[in-house]
Amino acid sequence: MKLSRRATELTESATLAVSAKAAEMGSCGIDVVSFGAGEPDFDTPEHIKEAAWAALRDGQTKYAKPASGILPLKEAVAAKLDRDNHLKYDPKSQVVITVGGKEALFLAFAAILDDGDEVILPAPYWVSYPEQVGLNGGRSVVIPGQVANSYKITPDQLESAITDRTRAFVFNSPNNPGGFAYEPNEVEALAEVLEGRDIAVLSDEMYDRIVFGNHEYKSYASVSDHAYEHTITFNAGSKTYAMTGWRIGYAAGPADVIKAMANLQSQTTSGTPTFVQHALVAALSGDQSLVASMRGDFEGRGAHICERLNAIPGIVCPEPAGAFYVFPDVSQCYGKLGVAGSIEFSSRLLEEAHVAVVPGEASGMDGCVRLSFATSMENIDRGVDRIADFLS
Ligand SMILES: Cc1ncc(COP(=O)(O)O)c(C=O)c1O
Repeated sequence: MKLSRRATELTESATLAVSAKAAEMGSCGIDVVSFGAGEPDFDTPEHIKEAAWAALRDGQTKYAKPASGILPLKEAVAAKLDRDNHLKYDPKSQVVITVGGKEALFLAFAAILDDGDEVILPAPYWVSYPEQVGLNGGRSVVIPGQVANSYKITPDQLESAITDRTRAFVFNSPNNPGGFAYEPNEVEALAEVLEGRDIAVLSDEMYDRIVFGNHEYKSYASVSDHAYEHTITFNAGSKTYAMTGWRIGYAAGPADVIKAMANLQSQTTSGTPTFVQHALVAALSGDQSLVASMRGDFEGRGAHICERLNAIPGIVCPEPAGAFYVFPDVSQCYGKLGVAGSIEFSSRLLEEAHVAVVPGEASGMDGCVRLSFATSMENIDRGVDRIADFLS
């Protein structure tokens, strides 16, 4: 059957492709150390599962009403954004509940982009942004980050990417795959560039609760009234509460954009399962100490893997400030290995050393690879030993 141009232009998610190849090798009895996972290795906390059971027992098995999310969850989201992010949103008109953070982002691009509109995308970026922009008729304008600045972009770089066609700027901190986080003054400096301009900001805050050391978190929309009025803030249960498989996320922002996203959702997915919404209420409103404990584990592993990678000649690895990824620059090794870029590097590493990493090419930086440290210290050591042998 003839496929549409949009479908044929779409590429498979590089992250999922690597995980699938690693899993296939594992099922053939090969001992693969995987740094591919984009999800916590912890199970969903018990009180969250219990809330889903309770909702099921209570008959919460019908369509969610409205499709954009049940009011108790919208209220819990608004309370979370106030408590953690110093943002005030009206739960009835400014919050939409979605099928993971991924659907929230897709709906936002669909709600704001017309054909040919430009979206500024700092690299490295989460692999789905450019594909979602393209599916909605937009054009990505990529700003490359530099390893020397931990891949963070500067206000000057942002300024020079703006044109008459700029419709949106995607801001993701802490960053997947980069592992960096913008400091409050850096968020303010970027927002200063957009002050007074009619450019929408999509602030992807999936990892806002996974920030390390002295790094302080600042939500983009909290910088100024202008930033608040032009920003859509995204988050999900996925990373903070180890709920990736539950498929639940949310967005908050200006009422007209949220209404458009809700309309689009009512004609596509009809929203998320009702009993899952009750589970996220429990997650957002319940005991938060488990979040701190997961964060602490990630911080220890991040520091360890970074130190070990930097000890390997040819690898330059900025220290992670949040999320659960390191994104070393491995391009100095390409010549010696005779590989053309990160895809060949990653597939040779997987085939010859049985270590799975995600090529940076899919994130706009072909000199780098992403390693997720959402895995045990033992696996980290085994995997890094193999990488060191592979490169020696
Ligand atoms: C930066 C970023 N945004 C969005 C998502 C999507 O999250 P979800 O699994 O809730 O759809 C991810 C997940 O990997 C992510 O890393």
